[in-house]
Amino acid sequence: MQWWRDAVVYQVYVRSFTDSDGDGVGDLAGVRARLGYLELLGVDALWLTPFYTSPMADHGYDVADPRDVDPVFGDLAEFDTLLAEAHAHGLKVTIDLVPHHTSTDHEWFRAARDSAPGSPERERYHFRPGRGGGPPNNWRSVFGGPAWTRLSDDEWYLHLFSPDQPDLNWTNPEVWADLEKTVRFWLDRGVDGFRIDAAHAMSKPDGLPDSPAPGVGPDPRFDDDGVHEVLRMVRAVIDHFPGRVATGQICAHDDAAFARYVRTDELHIGLTRRLLEAPFEAAAVRTAIEGSFGAVAGTPAPPSWTLSDHDTPRPVTRYGGGPAGVARARAMALVQLALPGAVFLYNGEELGLPDVDLPDDVRQDPRSRLTGHTDPGRDGCRVPLPWEGGPPGFGFTAGRPWLPIPDDWADRLVADQLEDTASTLSLYRRALELRRSHPGFAGTELEWFGAPAGCLAFRRAGSTLVCALNTGDAAVPLPPGEILLVSGPLDGDLLPPDTAAWLA
Ligand code: GLC
Repeated sequence: MQWWRDAVVYQVYVRSFTDSDGDGVGDLAGVRARLGYLELLGVDALWLTPFYTSPMADHGYDVADPRDVDPVFGDLAEFDTLLAEAHAHGLKVTIDLVPHHTSTDHEWFRAARDSAPGSPERERYHFRPGRGGGPPNNWRSVFGGPAWTRLSDDEWYLHLFSPDQPDLNWTNPEVWADLEKTVRFWLDRGVDGFRIDAAHAMSKPDGLPDSPAPGVGPDPRFDDDGVHEVLRMVRAVIDHFPGRVATGQICAHDDAAFARYVRTDELHIGLTRRLLEAPFEAAAVRTAIEGSFGAVAGTPAPPSWTLSDHDTPRPVTRYGGGPAGVARARAMALVQLALPGAVFLYNGEELGLPDVDLPDDVRQDPRSRLTGHTDPGRDGCRVPLPWEGGPPGFGFTAGRPWLPIPDDWADRLVADQLEDTASTLSLYRRALELRRSHPGFAGTELEWFGAPAGCLAFRRAGSTLVCALNTGDAAVPLPPGEILLVSGPLDGDLLPPDTAAWLA
């Protein structure tokens, strides 16, 4: 029942996937309408980003009620229908869990704000008196500015993300009991697992000590030992439901710290950003792959692979944009899908979408707002998908999309890419089909081949699949074998720059 060990999980950023009711925001009924597409694409599972009741200060990562659906996305009955129909299409469904913080609209935070310093209501969060007229310590928010906001009674509350996302206090038993209730609530409804948001951040060191200067010591905001107790509790609940999976977003201090998150009684899968952070250079890509194997060595967890998510500029843009960016992203898709372990795709990656350079006045990400737009934020990778037709809705919505879809995405439509055998979507479909059905994809380790400078080649150990990547600037001979798939045209029988090939 360990279906997740080599699963391809498709991240649906619900807000940007498909809108069923014309309000310009994607919703659960929209996801349901596209299950046929997802089955055709050939992924194994979905990860739905938060669809819970929320004022949407961080587009749903600010949860006001973790056991209900926000009306903009649907309702619980719609969720149940989506889940049943996804299962009927052979798709597992995992959902985001956001235990680290709530929304300021959560009933607990509203009660805390209205209660006195020292009250039990405030004990569920981190409230402190200030220090010398300023915040209680020097911690910064991940989104910019201090990690503390002051209330009118002069107490400050902690928020490692936006001021609309107060951090919960994980020394408080009520906070634990509530998460346990939430986990059971969704497992009872039949979800196949969770992606735990900021799984490295729940616990805070005693006394909330100041952060040292950058690079001087470990960051006290994250990866505190206490997080492991919380994850063990979640895992213990999940273990009562066979076949379900706990995946966590993890930023650990080092490999040894990472490995602790995927011990036998914690997460099944830890998400790492190594491949996503590697530049398009064979040596860096190889280091990222070896590092990801290293991080799970000696643990029961498979390695995991991600090239894109809703927090990061899309690969086409990261690798230089334009035709070269697309060619490189296609090449990296073959590298990623050749690897043993769990793969996490992000919606739109299969269409070769770039980031969109949006004007400041339409940007909505708090990271952009809180830095006065000096940080462009993450909206560029969150633009809704172009399905068919033309502007403004492109089949995403009958209304106006919440972020504008650029006119030139008319040449990246799902409808057209499905028909075009040379499209990025066709490449992903073919790669996913081979990954599922070709016997060469057995084996859980890699063997590296010698390769010319700027290139890499590996084989799945004990099996036949070979993947070769050329990030250099000259065409190189291919390793021996029958060609299964190439990410772009070959140069005679040479592998050109910005191209990858699968051979067996
Ligand atoms: C994680 C999510 C990100 C969100 C943040 C706060 O990093 O991936 O999108 O803004 O947590 O919940």
